[in-house]
Amino acid sequence: MSENKLSITAICGSLREGSFNRKVLKAMEELAPKHWEIHHVDISAIPLYNSDIESHGDPQSVVELKESIRTADGVLIITPEYNMGIPGVLKNALDWASRPARSSVLIQKPFAIAGATPGGGGTAQSQAQVRQTLLAMNAYTMPGPKVLIGSVHEKLNETTGELNDESTLRHLERFLIAFEQWILIFKQSQK
Ligand SMILES: Cc1cc2nc3c(=O)[nH]c(=O)nc-3n(C[C@H](O)[C@H](O)[C@H](O)COP(=O)(O)O)c2cc1C
Repeated sequence: MSENKLSITAICGSLREGSFNRKVLKAMEELAPKHWEIHHVDISAIPLYNSDIESHGDPQSVVELKESIRTADGVLIITPEYNMGIPGVLKNALDWASRPARSSVLIQKPFAIAGATPGGGGTAQSQAQVRQTLLAMNAYTMPGPKVLIGSVHEKLNETTGELNDESTLRHLERFLIAFEQWILIFKQSQK
């Protein structure tokens, strides 16, 4: 495994402070190889996409989102599922990032998707929609392993609230290693 620094941008599809998905992201951060530098993007200030706003220049929150994606070796999306699909705030952020369509920062960018829910479906339908969205934007989304965490509320430490389910943590480790390998395929092809 390469020890060269890898720059990873992390986007959480939930805005709420106590988000289960944010807890999964925190666990991933602790499990990530030491040579990863993870940069969180806050999508809460991004306005609803409107080409009238865009025509006056990207708002600062969008500038930061695009810059973080542009400079990243890979982008990690950890998202809930809302009504069997992608949360609106996440789709909106990706729509902003997808502009301009022919030269967006998403094109050929390696992505990986994960998600958690108290329900039983593990965010499968939300992740399928994120994958479809990224396909439209010509990003390179890792096919697997998939991280579909169901009953997430039962997988937390009762005192700290941190994710502490052993088999989930081991699966996250495998996911992170696979994502690095996925990223390196594209880094090597650019040499
Ligand atoms: C508008 C809305 C729709 C939801 N729809 C689903 C759903 O389709 N599938 C699911 O597993 N959970 C659904 N949930 C429950 C979320 O999984 C739950 O609120 C979860 O905690 C959100 O993720 P977070 O903890 O990271 O904020 C929905 C929640 C909201 C607010």
